[in-house]
Amino acid sequence: MITFAKQKFYVTTPIYYLNSYPHIGHAYTTIAADILARWKKSRGYDVFFLTGSDEHGLKLQRAAEERGWPTKKFMDYMANHFKQLWKELNIEYDKFIRTTSKDHKERVQKLIEKLKQTREIYKNTYEGLYCVGCEAYLTEKELEAGLCPYHQKKPEYMKEESYFFKLSKYQDKLLKLYKDKPDFIQPKARKNEIINRVKEGLNDLSITRTSFSWGIPFPGNDKHVLYVWFDALPNYITALGWPGEKFKKYWPADVHLMSKEINWFHSVIWPAQLTAAGIKPPKKVFIHGWLTIDGKKMSKTIGNVLNPSDIAAKYTADSLRYAIMREIPFGTDGDFSEKKLAERHNRELANDLGNLLSRALTLIEKNCNGKIPSPDKLQMPEKDLIADCNRAIDRSDEKMELLEYHHALDEIWKLVNAANRYVDQMKPWTLKGKRLDTVLYQLADSLRVICALVYPFIPSTAEELAKQLGIKVPNQKSLKPHQLKAGTKIKKGKPLFPKVEYKEEEKIVYQGDFSMLDIRVGKVVESEPIKEAKKLLKLKVDLGKLGERQLVAGLKEHYSHEKLKGKLIAVLVNLKPAKLRGNLSQGMLLAAQDDRGVVEVLDLKKSKPGDKITVDGLELPPKKEITYEEFSTVRLVVEKRYATWSGKPLKTKYEQIKLTKAKDKARIL
Ligand code: MSP
Repeated sequence: MITFAKQKFYVTTPIYYLNSYPHIGHAYTTIAADILARWKKSRGYDVFFLTGSDEHGLKLQRAAEERGWPTKKFMDYMANHFKQLWKELNIEYDKFIRTTSKDHKERVQKLIEKLKQTREIYKNTYEGLYCVGCEAYLTEKELEAGLCPYHQKKPEYMKEESYFFKLSKYQDKLLKLYKDKPDFIQPKARKNEIINRVKEGLNDLSITRTSFSWGIPFPGNDKHVLYVWFDALPNYITALGWPGEKFKKYWPADVHLMSKEINWFHSVIWPAQLTAAGIKPPKKVFIHGWLTIDGKKMSKTIGNVLNPSDIAAKYTADSLRYAIMREIPFGTDGDFSEKKLAERHNRELANDLGNLLSRALTLIEKNCNGKIPSPDKLQMPEKDLIADCNRAIDRSDEKMELLEYHHALDEIWKLVNAANRYVDQMKPWTLKGKRLDTVLYQLADSLRVICALVYPFIPSTAEELAKQLGIKVPNQKSLKPHQLKAGTKIKKGKPLFPKVEYKEEEKIVYQGDFSMLDIRVGKVVESEPIKEAKKLLKLKVDLGKLGERQLVAGLKEHYSHEKLKGKLIAVLVNLKPAKLRGNLSQGMLLAAQDDRGVVEVLDLKKSKPGDKITVDGLELPPKKEITYEEFSTVRLVVEKRYATWSGKPLKTKYEQIKLTKAKDKARIL
């Protein structure tokens, strides 16, 4: 017997920076990669799906320093956070690569050795601008009003000894690659941007740094660590154990997924780095769009950064996966909103799909003893529905081949709608005998086809659907109508998607990161009005081990200064000190403020000066210093008379903080 090796398929996400928690932008790419991986597996491919974390460089070293944790400990914590989220979102990767792993480091060094041997690397001095947010060298030309266009921050000036990679040599080779492989960069608009920039000429790339140490040592000179991108890009081959067997099997990658801000690194630096080492470039770099939320750029200050865990908890992970891919054409920027997700959840998932299954199973239970009946002679409506099944099987795959996820879903939903129309037309409850059996068989069999097609998008749901139909999720490879075995016992269960009522006032909002705050109990030892200011009081506060500090608080109109003396209050102690009307404030007193203008100081009774005020479940230590903007991203609110964050009470070892005057939902600032 001749056996054919399965065709391979290798898909990757960017490896995400671990400076902060994952958000819906990271989830978007990873969901897309997971759907594609599952799709290809289901079509019979031997798939490898890689994701992971990018853990070196100055940005990450600083993120750990801010918390006072050893860098590696911080990375372990954040990497686990990403892994946990991927589990919650039904992401089934084959490998999660970490750039701090021994394997990765050794293989990157080996790659560099190879580039050194081929004389692609030389030593010189780098002088210029660097944006730590992007981890990228910038030229004056790339700035907008002197700022990095992505981070709106002034780049840092640097001058240091550095090793360089001869990127300039690759201009013609790269232009040839884009010409010979017209699909190498997709969509087209993104390809044209790159071609235009490459045509302008390429500078050699500084690939090592000496001013910090959090990176992979440069082989042969460990005063230098590798530039983070030169260490990160090779993850796509080190994860396969380059140059071993797995690498030989899966490389070149079939597609690298990402959004546009990192296109340059993947479409220019990466193929040049590979070519220099004698390795084939990947087959495709696909650039999807940027997500905005409710029409606005995601921003912690606006408070519209959506946490994918919160969405999954309220609507299910599958709803999120479905809605985000259905809503936004892959490859263009798009808007995501909870309201639209809720509409799709209720209409397309709960009604169109969920009700279809429950109608079919109820009828089979009632009329066929809970077993799939045998079909008899097929009439026109069955033949039509079979044609719809075949069309959906073929067309959805054509669309997925083009990474048009939303069109693939359109094709699948045409079948879901056709099956619903079939029930409405046939009115099985009016039928009897063989005709009834045929209609119910046809319905159940169409659900089997739907199950196979929706599985990559909504895997948990497809598994539940299959279970209720009494089957396993079928593969799409050789999927055909009329393969459902008559006599199969069904098992009607819970609805696939319970409806969720969407209310604007209960919308998911960004809660911020409480863990960055350092809030302590302070005892007011002195208090006096600031004469020349209408609103300000000056306080001296005993903070236990932290000593005494002066605070300026805008309380004059709400509290008499005598009344504050002796009180135990809550003080944000890691706020960057500021001068207010010439008076230094070394922290901030916290008070609730409601919509009637009532202001109430957080008042403690049983705690001691210096005691920490926290919430349960925090792991990260506070940041050393935060700005007021950072503080105001954290939503502290009064809930049922208590000071809370994210539904959890603020507390010391001895008490929770109760309020008596401020209304529920009052913000604490
Ligand atoms: N560490 C680099 C990638 C190295 S790959 C060798 C990096 N990390 S990142 O954490 O900043 O992730 C960027 C990627 O996250 C984007 O390319 C995109 O895939 C995803 N997204 C992050 N925010 C996004 C949106 N607002 N919208 C869509 N996707 C975005 O860059």
